[in-house]
Amino acid sequence: MRRICHLAYFMLVLLDGGVWSLRNLTISVPRAVLSGEGESAVMRCSYDLEGAALYSIRWYRAETEFYRYVPRELPPTMVFPLPGASVDLAQSDHHQVRIVNLNRRLSGDYQCEVSADAPLFHTDIRSAPLTVVDPPFRAPLLTVPQRNFARGDVIKANCSVDEAYPAPNITWILDDHKIAEKVSWHPAELDFKERGAFSQLHLTVLETEHYKVGLSYTSSNLDAVFHQNYVSNGAQSKDDTIISYMITPPESGQFTLGCVATIHDIYARQSEVATIREDTPRPASVTGEDSAGTARSVSMALTSACVSAALIYSL
Ligand SMILES: *[C@@H]1O[C@H](CO)[C@@H](O)[C@H](O)[C@H]1NC(C)=O
Ligand SMILES: *[C@@H]1O[C@H](CO)[C@@H](O)[C@H](O)[C@H]1NC(C)=O
Ligand SMILES: *[C@@H]1O[C@H](CO)[C@@H](O)[C@H](O)[C@H]1NC(C)=O
Repeated sequence: MRRICHLAYFMLVLLDGGVWSLRNLTISVPRAVLSGEGESAVMRCSYDLEGAALYSIRWYRAETEFYRYVPRELPPTMVFPLPGASVDLAQSDHHQVRIVNLNRRLSGDYQCEVSADAPLFHTDIRSAPLTVVDPPFRAPLLTVPQRNFARGDVIKANCSVDEAYPAPNITWILDDHKIAEKVSWHPAELDFKERGAFSQLHLTVLETEHYKVGLSYTSSNLDAVFHQNYVSNGAQSKDDTIISYMITPPESGQFTLGCVATIHDIYARQSEVATIREDTPRPASVTGEDSAGTARSVSMALTSACVSAALIYSL
């Protein structure tokens, strides 16, 4: 009978306008931290017990408990082995846990579970991912074999990054504009393997006539162009994808190209910056009258005339 009364009481409390004794549980975990000696991750859990006492707070990594705080017990803290890191007891309590000297195998989901004390022992849990990063040793390597261009040329560039965990993303920078990002997708990233990353870029330098027909993209609006193309052809999952752009020759006759390797918000390093110059700079043409296209077709015609002449001569 007493039990039934208790039960009835609990039901009433539960139904009575949501007296849950545990509200607003939120977890806060850094998205990424560096691996190694002296590096650490502080994870926080905040909650509102609405006046009830805390019974316990438990932290899990991939469903394995590694830290428990139970105020009623003496000492209130219990630590379980966390291979590849240790818990800093001095800076862990009922609101946070600090783990130090992590290695990348500790990447994964972390959970915080809070229980209110009697009578309801209401319990809730939240989860958030952490990535422990092993950055590449060197800056990304940019190769642009041909650093001079004539209109109509295709400038080819490669950017490669040493092995890292997780594989970095690569962003291309033309003058000061981000024009493209190669995203490294590795669904099986939890094998904790280090991987390199690689991106190829082809820039076709348009003839000036394109100004007139409105096909031109300036470097400041390349970004938008890129994202449309990139998303629509869904090519980002292929490692051998070549990112292709058309650019109008800049008035100054030169532009710079570089690439940046990034890992979440904690690693970003830029390659050497290559300056790409036009072979024979010409004065900027507003009307497009004296266009390079005409000049090239004239010179093509001349070349074929000379070749024919040479062939005839040799016969
Ligand atoms: C829970 O959080 C929300 C938004 O932060 C706030 O408006 C609300 O008052 C909080 N509830 C409690 C019970 O603290
Ligand atoms: C870029 O790398 C690819 C694949 O390794 C290679 O075929 C190509 O020649 C390289 N291009 C440049 C410009 O280095
Ligand atoms: C790469 O970029 C994608 C898309 O912005 C992002 O979801 C992913 O976390 C990034 N990866 C790294 C390693 O920074």
